[in-house]
Amino acid sequence: MATCSRRVPFLLCLVSIFCALSSASLVSAAKRQYIVYLGGHNHGSSPVTEADLHAVTDSHHGLLATYLGDLERAKDAIRYSYTRHINGFTAILDDEEAAEIAKHPGVVSVFPDQKRKLHTTNSWHFMMLDKEIDTPTGKRNVPNELWKAARFGENVIIGNLDTGVWPESQSFSDKGYGAVPSRWRGLCENNTKAGVPCNRKLIGSRLYNKGIISAVNAQTADPADIYSPRDVDGHGTHTLSTAGGDFVPGVSFLGTASGVAKGGAPRARVASYKVCYADGCMDSDILAAFDGAIADGVDVLSVSLGADTLAGYTYLTDGQAIGSFHAVRAGIVVVASAGNEGPDQGSVKNMAPWIITVGASTGDRSVDAYAELGNGERLKGTAIFAKPLPEHKQYPLANAADVKLPNATAADAALCLPGTLDPKKAKGKILACLRGQTARVDKSQQAKNAGAIGVILCNDKPDGASLNDDIHAVPTSHVTYKDGLKVYKYINDTKKKNPTAYIAPPVNTYGNKPAPSMASFSSRGPNAVTPQLLKPDVTAPGVNVLAAYTMANGGKYPYAMESGTSMSCPHVAGVAALVKAVHPDWSPSAIHSAIMTTARTRSNAEDKITNEDEEESTSFGYGSGHIRPSRAIKPGLVYEVAPHEYLDFLCSIGYNSSDIDQLMEKGYKCSKKAKSVFDHNYPSFSVPNLGSGPVTFTRKVKNVGPPGIYAAEVNEPYGVAVKVVPDVLKFEKYGEEKSFKVMVAAKWKGAAKKYEFGGLTWTDGEHYVRSPIFVTNDLVIDRPSNVIVGHY
Ligand SMILES: *[C@@H]1O[C@H](CO)[C@@H](O)[C@H](O)[C@H]1NC(C)=O
Ligand SMILES: *[C@@H]1O[C@H](CO)[C@@H](O)[C@H](O)[C@H]1NC(C)=O
Ligand SMILES: *[C@@H]1O[C@H](CO)[C@@H](O)[C@H](O)[C@H]1NC(C)=O
Ligand SMILES: *[C@@H]1O[C@H](CO)[C@@H](O)[C@H](O)[C@H]1NC(C)=O
Repeated sequence: MATCSRRVPFLLCLVSIFCALSSASLVSAAKRQYIVYLGGHNHGSSPVTEADLHAVTDSHHGLLATYLGDLERAKDAIRYSYTRHINGFTAILDDEEAAEIAKHPGVVSVFPDQKRKLHTTNSWHFMMLDKEIDTPTGKRNVPNELWKAARFGENVIIGNLDTGVWPESQSFSDKGYGAVPSRWRGLCENNTKAGVPCNRKLIGSRLYNKGIISAVNAQTADPADIYSPRDVDGHGTHTLSTAGGDFVPGVSFLGTASGVAKGGAPRARVASYKVCYADGCMDSDILAAFDGAIADGVDVLSVSLGADTLAGYTYLTDGQAIGSFHAVRAGIVVVASAGNEGPDQGSVKNMAPWIITVGASTGDRSVDAYAELGNGERLKGTAIFAKPLPEHKQYPLANAADVKLPNATAADAALCLPGTLDPKKAKGKILACLRGQTARVDKSQQAKNAGAIGVILCNDKPDGASLNDDIHAVPTSHVTYKDGLKVYKYINDTKKKNPTAYIAPPVNTYGNKPAPSMASFSSRGPNAVTPQLLKPDVTAPGVNVLAAYTMANGGKYPYAMESGTSMSCPHVAGVAALVKAVHPDWSPSAIHSAIMTTARTRSNAEDKITNEDEEESTSFGYGSGHIRPSRAIKPGLVYEVAPHEYLDFLCSIGYNSSDIDQLMEKGYKCSKKAKSVFDHNYPSFSVPNLGSGPVTFTRKVKNVGPPGIYAAEVNEPYGVAVKVVPDVLKFEKYGEEKSFKVMVAAKWKGAAKKYEFGGLTWTDGEHYVRSPIFVTNDLVIDRPSNVIVGHY
């Protein structure tokens, strides 16, 4: 029966689910990959030997054999055995087997191995590039004091879980770098032709592909992708270089955004952990990469991907949350993207308290390509394109709906969908195309195919004022919803009289105001799993970010522009590396707190940060605010979380001692009187259900500055009384910790019906330790109970 016989090479067995299925003897139920999570390892203090690791794998085989019948079958079913820090395995099981194993003593959770998403809005548009372009160089770079103080992150090791790395990028040149830090235990997998050679800058590159090979049809997958640690997509090179790429002068992108490319911590060492492929990123591979990165000795992990938080989601059934948990316990700062499902509320991802969760906002640079209408109106749009229109004059303008093919609907043609535009009518015109349904750059491509000479790409309502510096096939001006209405109105009003327009060549502008503003795609709070924990934590630049790119598949652009929380996440990872460089002994939670409490909620126009639709944003968008690296190294006070307090947190949301016992601390007991989730020492305050009565938070802050007297300043949310006791804290020395309580009560019955926001700031006159406060009467999130009861 075992068609997956020993004679078939092991790899072939791996690549074929079919193979695993057919070896499943009598069980007819569909099989799939499951992750069986057993908590953490306690390898003790002596160095871990290969024998130790083998013993762990043997124990996994043994455990599985008791459910599958025999050892051989167990070995066939296992894809990964997590042996270093994370304890568990990934195996091909049917649902009944999975359910049985979940009941096994010591099993924390059993969950299907699912695909995760990279958090980029559009990472494919570079494939469509035009070729013959010269790239002028530029100069715009002055290192500031913080960077110098942090020695540009020298010798801090940043790891990145992503699509791999393009090692030849200048951003990873090791010119001027000394020996690799001796504590580093990682390496580069360079055993194939498509391997990654390391240097003293790029010190690690590993490939985790067992999950993806087993989950997808490896026959159709690109071997250069799934069998190589190299980045064929560009995403991983982009994110890794954003976090820790070195200074590379003279970088520009089709002549725009020129200047010095660099990461947040340009002198950091970097390591790539490839877990994402054209076919997706499997949780099982992600978990393996965390296990590897922890063992290698990274200091900071940047993870621009995440799980959907569907009903049934829990922190301990998400490989990324589990991996992050073990990383943070090992002293590693973990930064992850909030997701790109905004602006819907409750769309934020990666909301475990041990993860720094990052939203995305605009910077102050834009590439403006004005649309000039025949009525004299100049609309500020954005876009990048190679060849401007031949002459500065007016060209015929048409609504794409009006140049439709006979067999297309007007609605489809308005969107410039493929096969909808009539070359006879479109030729020589500038088309107004509506955003939506297809990639933005595909619309200008369709226009070009139909003979049009330009596009005004008009936002739909949900996208508001959210603009992208995409590269377009014809001169294009991507305009806001409001400006788009003007375009359509002008066309309507002058249809008989032949409307006209011109697209001006793109120009860089810097110092745009207001900036930042929250990107509409950035996923928003509240936290759907634990609403008592405000997420995201902070925001950082994630719109039109220029960073290193892959040169795979004949790529011509070593630097490219991308948008997404994928891009903002590594900015924060870079800043975390800088803080770590200045304070090597700080815990991940201290760095987490420092980055949050020093963030800023005002824009460069000194107003509250807005959304891209120009309405005021809230902590659901930006969390504590926009990161301020120069303050984060001197936060004054930090809200620190001891490792066991993350366990207390899990108890407080419904896990019991026998579950948590496995998570590294043998003998740990949830305290009888379950600790309140409000007492988790987080640097922000969230009251989702004030209607059920007043809430008291207990918090403690640790002085990491000079001795000082801090006073509490409260900005009460509307209709809510906030009392801080005591409201003055006196610190006599560095490292001293003080507790306080924050009592939150409604000022009248039914207060805070809406979402209300305020803040608490501790200040000694020099440091401002700011925390947002969110209050609402009765938060309803469209998900089942957030309380986790036992096993999944
Ligand atoms: C990696 O492999 C390439 C080609 O296989 C080889 O040229 C290079 O020297 C190797 N680099 C290192 C650092 O081992
Ligand atoms: C309309 O017909 C053309 C061929 O004349 C075809 O290329 C196109 O795909 C069709 N479009 C739709 C929307 O069916
Ligand atoms: C333009 O005309 C179309 C169809 O006649 C209509 O649907 C649309 O609302 C008009 N748009 C504006 C901005 O006037
Ligand atoms: C913990 O929860 C599991 C699953 O719900 C249950 O089987 C176990 O008895 C519980 N343990 C304790 C100590 O309550």
